[in-house]
Amino acid sequence: MTFSIPQQPKVLVVGNGAREHAIAWALRQSSHDVTLYAAPGNAGIADIAACVNITVDDVEGLVEFAEKEAVDLVVVGPELPLARGLADRCFEKGIRVFGPELAAARLESSKAFAKSVMAAACVPTASYQTFTDAESAKAYVHQCGAPIVVKADGLAAGKGVVVADTVEEACAAIDEMMVGAKFGASGTTVVIEQCLRGEEVSMMFFVDAHTAVPMIPARDHKRVGEGDTGANTGGMGAFAPVPGFVESGMVEVVQQRIISPLLNELKSRGIQYRGVLYAGLMMTEDGPFVIEFNCRFGDPETEVVLPLLDSDLLEILWAVTDDSLADVSIRWKPQKAICVVLASPGYPEQPRTGGEIQTGDATAGLIFHAGTRRVQGTLLTAGGRVIVCCGVADSFATARDIAYADADAIYFEGKHFRRDIAGSLK
Ligand code: AMP
Ligand code: GLY
Repeated sequence: MTFSIPQQPKVLVVGNGAREHAIAWALRQSSHDVTLYAAPGNAGIADIAACVNITVDDVEGLVEFAEKEAVDLVVVGPELPLARGLADRCFEKGIRVFGPELAAARLESSKAFAKSVMAAACVPTASYQTFTDAESAKAYVHQCGAPIVVKADGLAAGKGVVVADTVEEACAAIDEMMVGAKFGASGTTVVIEQCLRGEEVSMMFFVDAHTAVPMIPARDHKRVGEGDTGANTGGMGAFAPVPGFVESGMVEVVQQRIISPLLNELKSRGIQYRGVLYAGLMMTEDGPFVIEFNCRFGDPETEVVLPLLDSDLLEILWAVTDDSLADVSIRWKPQKAICVVLASPGYPEQPRTGGEIQTGDATAGLIFHAGTRRVQGTLLTAGGRVIVCCGVADSFATARDIAYADADAIYFEGKHFRRDIAGSLK
């Protein structure tokens, strides 16, 4: 290693989901004696880190805390603080931060920006048009026909996308977003996009100024219902690796056709990406097409990818902030991982929270908390996605048994989850 990590490094993980629980858990496996903080964290993270009551959108509060506690590394989980310039503020204050600057985070926070960078870099993606008024958007939908995809331009927690099978459905979605303001300001611009067909793969990369290192490919299950039915959610479960993806050389194809040209295009605009770059891909007949970029670890993909990491996460994150990623060896366990999301009643439309959670005999696998909080010793649901149960084993079949044993053992009223994560993979 060409960089040096201080003795007993202080690390602040920003976020309160299962992704951040998985990040904190992986940092706890580090060979370094990490002092771990989380802001604001959740009831599960509180078991392994000191949680401080600062919300993820309170950029100044986070920076102040990091300064006051002399935090050595801030690791940013969600997109919101990045889109609000948390990394930039940390740079200004000389605080080491893992996560891209605001200009780079726009790859996620503005689909229109992402599309314009992809067009300039010749990165394969669905053809699209952006609209700021509903009538022109609907006229365009009539012109293209269905199926067609309607997206809110800004951040909408993974829920601002409607894959419409009919023109009527697409027009209704446009009305909801633009006239009904379902996603607030995020829906004042919509992107109307060609519908791509194929299997989806999530590829995440660690990126510094010189190198992009792939993580294990994963697949998310976005729809709320089994057999990929119902509304889009933040993700109901995931598995990794995606069989055949690495073996067929597809990772290199993604790197050559998508990641390298994209990072070069950003560089030519004076933007240096550092952090995790997440590419949501559709494997079409013409190869991988980009559905979306995210500027952070995927959720729930992180809950299956990090348990397969066989290297020290702290050293990797540190190396990224130091532009010395090429000096770190990043290895993966030759195992399979499956995770199942337990959701609150009413999720994703109108989750009802505050129910008591009984964890029962759940011990078989890894349990990552998402929306949970503890009130006077009682564990309560506190979000749409509540707990993520993860199984890691030599086969998908065993990983699945482990994850579902826990999913069944944990109880809260109205709990729902998908039984078909990872389909019939062996
Ligand atoms: P996004 O928030 O852009 O990731 O979209 C959420 C989900 O909608 C994706 O994971 C896909 O399942 C679906 N989706 C988004 N864009 C398209 C597209 N152009 N064609 C087909 N499906 C799409
Ligand atoms: N799993 C999709 C996302 O993290 O946005």
